[in-house]
Amino acid sequence: MIETRANTKKLFIKTYGCQMNVYDSDRMMDALAPHGYETTLDMGQADLVLLNTCHIREKASEKVFSELGRLKELQNERRALGGDMLIGVAGCVAQAEGEEIARRAPVVDMVFGPQAYHKLPDMLVQAEAQRHLHPSLKRAVIDTDFPEEDKFEHLPSAKKEVTIKRGLTAFLTVQEGCDKFCSFCVVPYTRGAEVSRPVAQVISEARGLVEAGVKEITLLGQNVNAYHGDDKGRAVGLGELAYLLAEIPGLERLRYTTSHPRDMDDALIAAHRDLDILMPYLHLPVQSGSDTILKAMNRRHTAAEYLDVIARIKAARPDMALSGDFIVGFPGETDQDFEDTLRIIRDVGYASAYSFKYSTRPGTPGASLTDQVDEAVKTERLYRLQELVNAQTTAFHQSCVGKTLPVLVERPGRQAGQVGGRSPYLQAVHLEGSTELIGAIHQVEIIGTSTNSLVGRLKVKAAA
Ligand code: SAH
Ligand code: SF4
Ligand code: F3S
Repeated sequence: MIETRANTKKLFIKTYGCQMNVYDSDRMMDALAPHGYETTLDMGQADLVLLNTCHIREKASEKVFSELGRLKELQNERRALGGDMLIGVAGCVAQAEGEEIARRAPVVDMVFGPQAYHKLPDMLVQAEAQRHLHPSLKRAVIDTDFPEEDKFEHLPSAKKEVTIKRGLTAFLTVQEGCDKFCSFCVVPYTRGAEVSRPVAQVISEARGLVEAGVKEITLLGQNVNAYHGDDKGRAVGLGELAYLLAEIPGLERLRYTTSHPRDMDDALIAAHRDLDILMPYLHLPVQSGSDTILKAMNRRHTAAEYLDVIARIKAARPDMALSGDFIVGFPGETDQDFEDTLRIIRDVGYASAYSFKYSTRPGTPGASLTDQVDEAVKTERLYRLQELVNAQTTAFHQSCVGKTLPVLVERPGRQAGQVGGRSPYLQAVHLEGSTELIGAIHQVEIIGTSTNSLVGRLKVKAAA
């Protein structure tokens, strides 16, 4: 029989934005579990709903307010039945807009930024203390400080049972914040200055994940390859960290994201040459192929310097697959600048890429530029760019047909008798096979492609 505690409260977290928010949402669950909260998949049943938000583009930000409208209705329904629902807004919109959120959406009980997650239990006590007050007297609990203390030291580390539920792959945030200040980007303002977690803390969390059954860890950071974690007074870079993590028995795959071209140093490139555990797939955004636009974006590198970094990576690891991010329609982008972006895409040959129309973000230097690009022009450029990238992705998938790739089989497939997993290049792979294959890396012959994935066949070892 399943034991349920009488005072168990239900928590629903909705996560928007990047993988760092996914990691943070898990940490918030861990922080609340000792206080009697367990997660529910039904928002309507939740005693506490947290929206972990993203501010990166206008559309991402605005999603929060439409969701809060819906939550108001759910809260009313629960109250009509004698219950209640507390509502918190976390993440980058919370950090950027703070009190403004509570003003615009009075339904919100708590607003807190990414550096305050360890204080969540205390904030909840404060919010709950106001339950009996008349709505006109309630004040949202707000915490958008950048505290001196290290939140990771105060957050419980990944719990074994929670981790098992998360599966065979896990995220591990090693670095937060960004000092690069690209002129389009809100991250330096929402996440603050670049901070790296100490080496011992990272290793210990990675060991815990592996003991709980995790085979593949993706190290996370807004600028992950700028990692410089303390190890007894010495700064250790991401390359050296990779060698240390490679020594953990049972850890089979290591990835990291997102990197900046300027921080791709020799030690990290050498790690790609030396460590089989480091997967041959790298997300290395360039944003534009035009030096004029790169300068206006304050990217601190030219197109040629980016291509040079890629050449050095490929010399170390010839099968490296690349992925990138692109922004079209940055203020002042001419037809020629855009053609330069298409050219760099052709020169690199991406396995995949994400692309966005430039979105003006309040408070960033880009917001004060006057030569904005017409919306219709942005739409047309995005379409052309995505057509080119899609063709490259298809070509990359097709180039894998006939090869045998190690696939980490992670889950049952969409159809009975099938399982699914990932190739070293992060491609989804489907194959016929029993669920007994789940949990290990198997040699799989790639026999075809379907939309955005590969079709494989288990390579059966020849009898001796
Ligand atoms: N730290 C990473 C990514 C940060 S945000 C990096 O340095 O690349 C993820 C992506 O969102 C960026 O790479 C960029 O392509 C896109 N992006 C950021 N700000 C944007 C804006 N104002 N408008 C459109 N896209 C943006
Ligand atoms: Fe944003 Fe640039 Fe920092 Fe990436 S490197 S998070 S794009 S400011
Ligand atoms: Fe969005 Fe914040 Fe991540 S703005 S992309 S959730 S760092």
